[in-house]
Amino acid sequence: MASASNLNQFPGICTHPTMALLKIVHYPDPRLHKVALPIATVDDEIRKLVADMAETMYAAPGIGLAATQVDRLLRLIVVDISEAKDDLKVFINPEILGSSGLSEHEEGCLSVPGIYDLVSRPERVRVRALDQNGAPLELETDGLLAVCLQHEIDHLDGKVFVEYLSRLKQERIRRKLLKQAREAM
Ligand code: NI
Repeated sequence: MASASNLNQFPGICTHPTMALLKIVHYPDPRLHKVALPIATVDDEIRKLVADMAETMYAAPGIGLAATQVDRLLRLIVVDISEAKDDLKVFINPEILGSSGLSEHEEGCLSVPGIYDLVSRPERVRVRALDQNGAPLELETDGLLAVCLQHEIDHLDGKVFVEYLSRLKQERIRRKLLKQAREAM
């Protein structure tokens, strides 16, 4: 997920020479619509991907990133909704066990740069996953973290937030981003 549009720098990001910024795939790239595969073993290769995804998310800057967005079809997301950007949460093979309520939030996405719109989702979710050590975790949450988790888990299922918007808006966003991509070439 993209952070609020007025937030554009993060002082004090720790960059390590072995980490790498990954290229973020932009809508309407068809790779964003593939379903990611479960991670069988949480090993050093996965932890390296976690570190690179975290660095990529902080640099963007964003508050959530799914592996699908960096062209790795694995069920892995990183999230940090803290102001200080010091509370990285890693979810491997995340599953939504239950949800309740309904609320509307403005969402943005690092794969859909510059686009923000209101999306309705369940207010509260219960999520189960593995952490970066392969240990099981379960949490129940609401507010921004619940929005972010649902947005990122959607990515793993090949769904981008603009698909919750009207056909007309989707078409407008698609044309705008294709134009941006052409101009950047
Ligand atoms: Ni996104």
